[in-house]
Amino acid sequence: MRNVILTGFMGTGKSSVGRVLARLTGWVLLDLDAMIVRRGGRSINELFAQEGEPFFRALESAEIGMLRQYHEPFILATGGGAVLAAENRVIFRDLGLVVNLTAPPEVISARLRHSDDRPLLNDGAAREKVELMLREREPCYEEADIRIDTAGKKIEDVAAEILAFLTRGVTSGIEAEG
Ligand code: S3P
Repeated sequence: MRNVILTGFMGTGKSSVGRVLARLTGWVLLDLDAMIVRRGGRSINELFAQEGEPFFRALESAEIGMLRQYHEPFILATGGGAVLAAENRVIFRDLGLVVNLTAPPEVISARLRHSDDRPLLNDGAAREKVELMLREREPCYEEADIRIDTAGKKIEDVAAEILAFLTRGVTSGIEAEG
């Protein structure tokens, strides 16, 4: 199945790029964090504070486990930690093109400085903390099919890059068959 799965650290633009890409392709946009909030009946902050991260991760994996039920092609904007569980990465690979959005730690830190809805970085998103988490998560992010650096780029341009990749993929598939 050829969906698009957007992975990447917090603040790399997954939801924004997903919105534009959904508009360009006409595909459905699924926002994993929003699905978890709906299922959990509480905000991400509340889920982390009241139930703890393992509970949040279990909800996240449960939502990911249900993605195969979608028959329309979709763009999935994941949460930054959704790639941490190996079984989630297997499902993502199975579902479609995995696109990892990246940005250097200082860019992420600046983008998230005023964010208060990311429990893992609500204390100001210090560059050092971002850098450490990025280093820990890198083996999970690097499994993607393509990686796109978003620093200094417009959301529309990142979405266009992904679209170009999708179109090229389809064209070369036809050529290979012909
Ligand atoms: C998380 C990223 C968040 C959200 C939760 C945990 C993470 O999503 O799922 O706060 O572990 O990186 P965004 O990447 O959309 O901010």
